[in-house]
Amino acid sequence: MDVDQLLTPLHLSGDTVTDITTFLVERGRPETVAHLKAVTEEAERLARRFAVDPAQAWLAGWLHDVAAIVPANRVVEAAEGLGIVLTPADRAIPQVIHGRLSAWLGERWFGVTDPLVLNAVRCHSTLRYGATDLDKTLFVADKTALDPTADFQPGYAADLAAALDQSLDHAAFAILNWFVRERDCLGWRLHPDLLAAHAELAHRLGRAPAAWGEAEARVKWDGQGLAPAIVQDAHTGAVLTLAYMNRTALRLTLATGETHFWSRSRREIWHKGRTSGHTQSVTDLRLDCDGDAILVRVHPHGPACHTGAETCFFISLYQADDMTNTPPRD
Ligand SMILES: [Fe+2]
Ligand SMILES: [Fe+2]
Repeated sequence: MDVDQLLTPLHLSGDTVTDITTFLVERGRPETVAHLKAVTEEAERLARRFAVDPAQAWLAGWLHDVAAIVPANRVVEAAEGLGIVLTPADRAIPQVIHGRLSAWLGERWFGVTDPLVLNAVRCHSTLRYGATDLDKTLFVADKTALDPTADFQPGYAADLAAALDQSLDHAAFAILNWFVRERDCLGWRLHPDLLAAHAELAHRLGRAPAAWGEAEARVKWDGQGLAPAIVQDAHTGAVLTLAYMNRTALRLTLATGETHFWSRSRREIWHKGRTSGHTQSVTDLRLDCDGDAILVRVHPHGPACHTGAETCFFISLYQADDMTNTPPRD
């Protein structure tokens, strides 16, 4: 498989099931067709139960793993070849990338334009912060319709069955929480998107770790619920950015280990590097003496500034002459 194969136009009949089946069978993945069928049936069942559009669930189910034609060891190369931006966490946990490749194929070759369906396909293996009910429907269906004869059987089945009697949020949380609980035991590194989804649902369902609440309570938030966050390179000491956090941004930063802020202009949570790939891994968080400013020390994975500069502070307003060439004091 090379990227050119993904770029080769398909001859479509216009019938989604026929086209996806032909696409997978011709490329040597007939077993994926059975999985897509099982997940789609489960997604439709859940959609009817939780008032999600069954037609969107049906389409998302059929599409979600069409990228199975790309071997696991080639997904990074394929994504990069198609211009999909990857973060260091994506490269470290490449199992998450096939959802984005499936969404790309869905949009490019199967003519899917519904952004809700494409988003659900994109995040189906991890979920994400701000996940829609359609996202959760596909995520839960995919994790429910696992092959019962596979070597590895995850242990969330009992929790999930009970949670499905409560709500879609409870069901998604039961799965995410099992991954978070078992990660040390299983030796798995979890993707920040999964950890962000877990943090959001844990908070909403009253299951958040006490440490997050304690950290939030120590910050003196301003009248708008914000606190300035100074981001510093932990290695060089360079000041990279001044941004703002609210309680949610702080919680997501603590949960994922990557910087999240509140964008005052867009009025939304902003995961630094989500679109550029230049995420920041947090090494420590500190409060100033008044408790109203946060210092975030990070390992940056690329430029901090949207202009491409290493730091946002590259415009000189003043520099004293005698500071420029001052010899070191004894
Ligand atoms: Fe998948
Ligand atoms: Fe799947």
